[in-house]
Amino acid sequence: MHHITQIAELRSKIAKWRFAGERIALVPTMGNLHRGHLALVQAAQQQAQRVVVSIFVNPLQFGANEDLDAYPRTFEQDQQQLAALGCDVLFAPPVFEVYPHGQTAQTRVEVPELSDILCGASRPGHFVGVATVVCKLFNMVQPNVALFGEKDFQQLLVIRRMVADLNLPIDIIGLPTVREADGLALSSRNGYLSTEDRGRASGLYQTLCSVSRALQAGTPAAELEQLAIPALRLAGFQPDYVAVRSAATLAPVMPSDTELVILAAAYLGHTRLIDNLRVRR
Ligand code: PAF
Repeated sequence: MHHITQIAELRSKIAKWRFAGERIALVPTMGNLHRGHLALVQAAQQQAQRVVVSIFVNPLQFGANEDLDAYPRTFEQDQQQLAALGCDVLFAPPVFEVYPHGQTAQTRVEVPELSDILCGASRPGHFVGVATVVCKLFNMVQPNVALFGEKDFQQLLVIRRMVADLNLPIDIIGLPTVREADGLALSSRNGYLSTEDRGRASGLYQTLCSVSRALQAGTPAAELEQLAIPALRLAGFQPDYVAVRSAATLAPVMPSDTELVILAAAYLGHTRLIDNLRVRR
């Protein structure tokens, strides 16, 4: 596996593969790799001859009071895991390589509307930061295909929309959330949880499962959104939102919608957890 930190070196390596007619897959990450990331890499290997994994803790997608400094950085362990899987390139640029003129002066990519609801309402500017860095990574790597986890469901839709709106010739693949045995979605932020909070954390997934069952039994979505908030409080969370939406657009549910998604964000202490569950009705 090649460890590359400079865009010029990345481009020249990839140009050789492209010249040889090889398909290229990109798995963008912020590192601290877990089984969810590794599943993305393995799926990428099924999609393309060459797999590039990026590790870049993107400062542009963190708010002023968020966890940029505390975000777990486990580079050596990540590198070993990727090498063991047979990843072709680990691209881990320094911040200066990605934002040479600083973050304030950086041209941004904004996916309107989708970026302003749910997690975007609670984390203003977050999805602009995500769309900007993912667009830059797409331009650096020019992959045929890029893979993302469905755990960040809103992020996946923002990226799909960006790719469609900017006519980028890249297939976007979303992979199902990988969970712990008790249902907790794997996330780098789970490492922040105290032992006590880790014991409570699967309550988020359990709440989504209860909402899903009630939705399929015919309870109206709006009623369930209201009921889920006190249920989460009882389970020890400080809820941010619970929303039942159209899975294709994240718009409020219409009677004709059959593909739905229940999305939730809630705090345990200072740790913000998100999760979602797809429902067909
Ligand atoms: O999901 C993530 O890890 C990040 O938001 C991403 C897509 C790598 C962009 O920084």
